[in-house]
Amino acid sequence: MEYRSRESKKGTNVVWHNHKITKAQRSALKKQRPCILWFTGLSGSGKSTIANAVEGRLYEMGRHTYLLDGDNIRHGLNRELGFSDEDRVENIRRIGEVSKLFVDSGTIVLSAFISPFKSDRMKVRELVEEGEFIEIFVDVPLEVCEARDPKGLYKKARRGEIGDFTGISSPYEPPENPEIRLPAHEQSIEESVEQIVDYLRERGYLDGK
Ligand code: ADX
Repeated sequence: MEYRSRESKKGTNVVWHNHKITKAQRSALKKQRPCILWFTGLSGSGKSTIANAVEGRLYEMGRHTYLLDGDNIRHGLNRELGFSDEDRVENIRRIGEVSKLFVDSGTIVLSAFISPFKSDRMKVRELVEEGEFIEIFVDVPLEVCEARDPKGLYKKARRGEIGDFTGISSPYEPPENPEIRLPAHEQSIEESVEQIVDYLRERGYLDGK
């Protein structure tokens, strides 16, 4: 695959440039503290729906945001990646790097990916500064996601028509200590949005400098 064959060229004769305008300046202009709202959870748990609603609320509040979404990114940037463990690791690695760039631009990033592996989420956390990675566990049990089955994918996975399906034939490692846990099947989307916006407000992410 393309991304592997290019590995050999990495790091040769590449020098990091420091830019004149800093993250602090860009953030100050936007009157916010940038961060990554990292939604993780099973397919059908509501990650994208909640992330969309949060972005809508932040937009109404005049905040600068950008939403990265698994299904969309897999049509473009990551279109050659499938769902093997190896491809999921690469998927999340790229999203982590893209999220970091958005944070550097002063933006509040919302990333909605299953991101099933703890170690990959940890790597993204380590890419950015303390307090810039906010893990949001959309904690909806498999039975509920499977009953919802909005895209009919669980049915196909059970029939063996899709392999490596998260929760069925591929693992999901739940976060042990997420910053925010949303029991999204037991509360409204509005309540989940409130929980996240309150978290940001209370910790000064929405304060201008
Ligand atoms: S991740 O595991 O690499 O983080 P990502 O969030 O990008 O996954 O993509 C998940 C979406 O792809 C699901 O919401 C679902 O619509 C679709 N999908 C297709 N095949 C699979 C599969 N085998 N496992 C999980 N999701 C799949």
